[in-house]
Amino acid sequence: MVSAIAWKNKKVVMLDQSRLPAEVRFIECADYRLVAEGIKKLWIRGAPAIGIAAAMGIALGAKEIKAAGFDEFMERLEPICSAMLSTRPTAVNIKWAVDRLKKTLLAHREKSVAKLKKMLVDEAKRILDEDIAVNRAIGKFGAELIRDGDTVLTHCNAGALATGGYGTATAPMLFARDQGKRIRVFADETRPVLQGARLTTWELAQEGIPVTLITDNSAGALMRRGEIDLVIVGTDRTVRNGDVANKIGTYTVAVLAREHSIPFYIAAPLSSIDLSIPTGDQIPIEERDPSEVTCIYGRVRTEDNVCSWGSVQIAPEGISVKNMAFDVTPHRYITGIITEKGIFRPGDIKNIMKKPEKGTRGGAFVPPVRR
Ligand code: MRU
Repeated sequence: MVSAIAWKNKKVVMLDQSRLPAEVRFIECADYRLVAEGIKKLWIRGAPAIGIAAAMGIALGAKEIKAAGFDEFMERLEPICSAMLSTRPTAVNIKWAVDRLKKTLLAHREKSVAKLKKMLVDEAKRILDEDIAVNRAIGKFGAELIRDGDTVLTHCNAGALATGGYGTATAPMLFARDQGKRIRVFADETRPVLQGARLTTWELAQEGIPVTLITDNSAGALMRRGEIDLVIVGTDRTVRNGDVANKIGTYTVAVLAREHSIPFYIAAPLSSIDLSIPTGDQIPIEERDPSEVTCIYGRVRTEDNVCSWGSVQIAPEGISVKNMAFDVTPHRYITGIITEKGIFRPGDIKNIMKKPEKGTRGGAFVPPVRR
């Protein structure tokens, strides 16, 4: 299974996803600023993966801090945390990781600065390991939704590349496959950055899962023809009322799924759930560079018939562009949210952090068996 990020030899190593599938190139970051640049430039992307990268980036930056004691250490850590927080606004995972690291430090204020630095590295590595375990739990619950012979539609990439490993939306597919179910996947290409075409197809093909690439505007026609049984996508931020921010185009898929009575599920680790925000209207939506829309990255044939990967302009020079990277799907379109604690109705997600009362599932529901 592909691995998007690792801590190796006191450095953060990330697979450069902006070059996939043309080139498998790893970038070694010895400076936290390079980690922040990698998050901004989508060398690493996907909500859980950028949370892990931010945690590792902070651990990396902390190594350079010279401080006499706890308070000074925390003060010098602040600009490093801010550098991570300012990279991408929609996924809550970066804030989640920063809060978690700070909480760990605050619980050990009596420790030496050297020990605090080591604790940050250990915690960042723990975040990575836990993410894989979380995704496996999502896979176990989510696989129950998939029947033998089902065709699943997914949008963007919420696979191993977007996480510490295993993926969120892809985990149920991997588990279903391991249970011997014969499944097929349609992957939306996901304009403008083509995470579906470049990344989801790449990793599912490596897993031996039959995957068919479709253009974003094909999903409705396939649903109408009865060729899609279920939709599973990831999330960058799921809020108190069950509204979900995810890659631009997710909302369109959700509305289409409702029209065709197709179950629409979100795979959401707790690290992507933000109960501090009441509705999706308060989620900051990242807007990215117009060049992502006016240019397409692909294989270019030069005059002397040599193929190379590069960027091709497809729109008039200087044309006005609106490039929203994410959209919000209102909770009423969502059948269920698959978490590591079970599957929740969107309206029950606000209870997810509460300890379940004895003998109850704490709000998690058992999905009805589909025929
Ligand atoms: O812009 P990206 O590629 O970071 O967007 C990624 C997505 O929208 C994913 O679906 C989401 O982060 C969930 S990843 C498990």
